[in-house]
Amino acid sequence: MTILHIDSSITGEQSATRTLTRSIVEELKAAQWGEQVVYRDLAANPLPHLTLDAYADTSILDEFLAADTVVVGAPMYNFTLPTQLKAWIDRLAIAGTTFRYTENGPEGLVKGKRVIIAIARGGFYGEGSPAAALEHLESYLRGVFGFIGAEPEFVVAEGLNISPEHREKAISEALGETLRLAA
Ligand SMILES: Cc1cc2nc3c(=O)[nH]c(=O)nc-3n(C[C@H](O)[C@H](O)[C@H](O)COP(=O)(O)O)c2cc1C
Repeated sequence: MTILHIDSSITGEQSATRTLTRSIVEELKAAQWGEQVVYRDLAANPLPHLTLDAYADTSILDEFLAADTVVVGAPMYNFTLPTQLKAWIDRLAIAGTTFRYTENGPEGLVKGKRVIIAIARGGFYGEGSPAAALEHLESYLRGVFGFIGAEPEFVVAEGLNISPEHREKAISEALGETLRLAA
């Protein structure tokens, strides 16, 4: 069983999503969800923007398909995902391989894979909050992974820039959630 661990935060050791993904992967390993971990740091080693030529290289797609569980760190930057993470996703949404169009509409072809996404946001975007309409991170990731057939599970730490106290509390609560995921 293989766990694919993806980070995309640009903030290094300060990163909330890196803290969360590290914990999720440790908990999953301890609960025997996977003995082998493949790590990819999209900030340290960014993929180029998508071009038509890039479709010829399926190594990123193959790595994703080979994993039983995928753990993704997704910080909110400018109301959506980092472009580094988008470049990775651009290599996964492949017609005929991860989804197909049928007479009844699109069908996801990724089956039996667990996708766990750790989200961190500086503000609050919950239902009814003033900034809710600007939430294009969790909604996008739920949409794109759902589209290819891999309904994602989320761990969310938000309001991290409200105060240092709130940041600590929100990250610690999200870390508590990681235990539930591995159970
Ligand atoms: C370049 C940049 C853009 C950001 N844009 C937003 C934003 O649009 N909305 C928000 O709530 N927080 C925003 N933040 C705050 C981050 O979401 C927050 O710091 C979070 O912890 C980022 O995850 P990380 O710690 O793993 O990098 C931004 C932070 C950075 C560095």
